Amino acid sequence: MKLESTVEVQFSEQELQTIENLKTRYLKPDSVILEVLYLLQEKYGYITREGMKYAADLLGITEEHVLGVVTFYSMFNTQPVGKYHLQVCTNVSCMLKGAYSLLKKIESELNIKKGETTPDGLFTISEVECLGSCGTAPVIQINEDYYEDLNEEKVTQIIKELKNR
Ligand code: FES
Repeated sequence: MKLESTVEVQFSEQELQTIENLKTRYLKPDSVILEVLYLLQEKYGYITREGMKYAADLLGITEEHVLGVVTFYSMFNTQPVGKYHLQVCTNVSCMLKGAYSLLKKIESELNIKKGETTPDGLFTISEVECLGSCGTAPVIQINEDYYEDLNEEKVTQIIKELKNR
């Protein structure tokens, strides 16, 4: 897990104000930790060690607390990912509906393994836990979008379309 970076982490005045406004809705400042982490990821692409320290200082909590949250949720990246982040759910419902075959198909189509990024920086593959859409298994999440009721043909088509964007 890469956590090092030389990029200085700093929210803008507007971003800081957004966080301050959110804090007023809760009894404890650390209740907005997910919003802070989302903002960090949106701004920098992934969450570095510096980002975690920044979040900890902003919320008055320990870096270990932030690290625990970042590593608990699969939607947070601790290293750079490609333009398209393919997160393949292999939890029970998806597994029973062929998730591992889909994962193999995606690896084969992109010529990389899970956890890797294509040399052109376009695609990263991750294996993730339940995405909360078990009724439409198998499911993959690409960036913010869900792709459901998948099969190998659909996956091939999706990748083709993403390559041509
Ligand atoms: S098991 Fe895949 S979405 Fe729930």
